[in-house]
Amino acid sequence: MPHALIVDDDRNTLVAFAELVEAEGYTTTTAETLEAARSELTARHPDVVLCDLVLPDGKGTDLLGELQGVPSPEVILITANATIETAVAALRLGAYDYLTKPVDIARLKTLLAQLRRTQALKDEVSTLRNELRQLGRFGPLVGTSPAMQQAYELISRVAPTDVTVLIIGESGTGKELVAESVYRLSRRRGQPFLAVNCGALSATLIESELFGHERGSFTGADRRHQGVFERANGGTLFLDEITEMPVELQVRLLRVLETGTMVRVGGDKELRVDCRVIAATNRDPESAVKAGKLRQDLYYRLQVFPLRLPPLREREGDIAVLARHFLAERARAENAEKHFTQDAMNALVRYQWPGNVRELKNVVDRAYILADEEITPECLPPEISGEERPTGPFFRVRVGTAIADVEKRLILATLRELGGDKRRAAETLGVSLKTLYNRLHEYGEKSEGAAAAPRDDE
Ligand SMILES: Nc1ncnc2c1ncn2[C@@H]1O[C@H](COP(=O)(O)OP(=O)(O)OP(=O)(O)O)[C@@H](O)[C@H]1O
Ligand SMILES: [Mg+2]
Repeated sequence: MPHALIVDDDRNTLVAFAELVEAEGYTTTTAETLEAARSELTARHPDVVLCDLVLPDGKGTDLLGELQGVPSPEVILITANATIETAVAALRLGAYDYLTKPVDIARLKTLLAQLRRTQALKDEVSTLRNELRQLGRFGPLVGTSPAMQQAYELISRVAPTDVTVLIIGESGTGKELVAESVYRLSRRRGQPFLAVNCGALSATLIESELFGHERGSFTGADRRHQGVFERANGGTLFLDEITEMPVELQVRLLRVLETGTMVRVGGDKELRVDCRVIAATNRDPESAVKAGKLRQDLYYRLQVFPLRLPPLREREGDIAVLARHFLAERARAENAEKHFTQDAMNALVRYQWPGNVRELKNVVDRAYILADEEITPECLPPEISGEERPTGPFFRVRVGTAIADVEKRLILATLRELGGDKRRAAETLGVSLKTLYNRLHEYGEKSEGAAAAPRDDE
């Protein structure tokens, strides 16, 4: 039978918790101080520690750094609402989850039941970490830059909890892929994962898509419709482009997150919903709050665990790794290998990638089609290969024109373009100043003759 240690300085709470936890099939011991908890921890290795955050001789979070033993116990922190930040900090230190007071008993029960399943998830995360060292990827996420390793670390920590995650990153940085990774490493995998892109739907549609509607609640609502909160019940909901959700709806969303209940559009019955929410935005959320696009209170609630994805240009070494990965994918699909020349790879690495990983993938796919076996800079868009189309005046030369004539026109046009500066013209044309004088002499031009040269620009 699994064993739980319960730490709280209030004796009544201890008794009540112990009863609850025992009803879930655990044996229990209790402690009223950190010191007593420490000696319990060494005397007997509990599987789970339920610990009040504020104790007479310290903070529940102090225990986290001290926990030893393999496997070390899972810690669930219990905190008053006001200290939610500390609880979140505790997650980063490795706490399993937290509960706010007054404790929602249904949630405590769910957590205790889930605890038994998390060992499998832990094994999976450590497999992924090994793979990362060997193959340079974390599940579907490719790249080993320090910035991405940090992201993987955060994903591993937050995924198994039920905590709301806010993924922030420029367009194309992989937010959706990260949301899926969080889901796949969570206790809720196997339950539904539903995504709503708030940027792609009108206000009315978002409302009914999220919360559902009753028959006849608006014109065209000819039958009852279940929203994603109901359909994803027990699972995970991905709310993409959250700042595009109308602010009135943000109020409703916040209510659902806070109460775990909702009402269908046009309905009056409160329905219990249990969804883990992962939200994403490609705007800076703080500016979105200032601009009135994101409600402060919703932001506060969503950013329990912010996960910032760095833009591709800040992921040292990842451009090359990703480019080769996408190329290999293409090659597998088409059953024909191709490779980058060093020049092409240099150009890819130098580029700033405003469209991030998505842009890189598109560029590689397109280059694959254009290239024979070698992907040269010519197969890349000019802004990447650096071979921008030349600007400035041109002149047209008919095929078969005498070289001397072409040379004359080129020299005179260049001289005119450079305002008659012979030294610069000679440099630009790659001839000595003396040669230039000789030619001008041949053409019978005077020193300001360049100005009189025939215009032939396009
Ligand atoms: N680290 C990565 N490894 C492999 N593929 C990636 C990675 N990051 C992103 N991709 C791929 O790049 C493309 C864009 O990723 P995704 O759709 O997740 O970006 P996004 O941040 O949600 O973009 P947007 O803000 O435009 O919605 C997808 O094809 C995705 O599979
Ligand atoms: Mg996306």
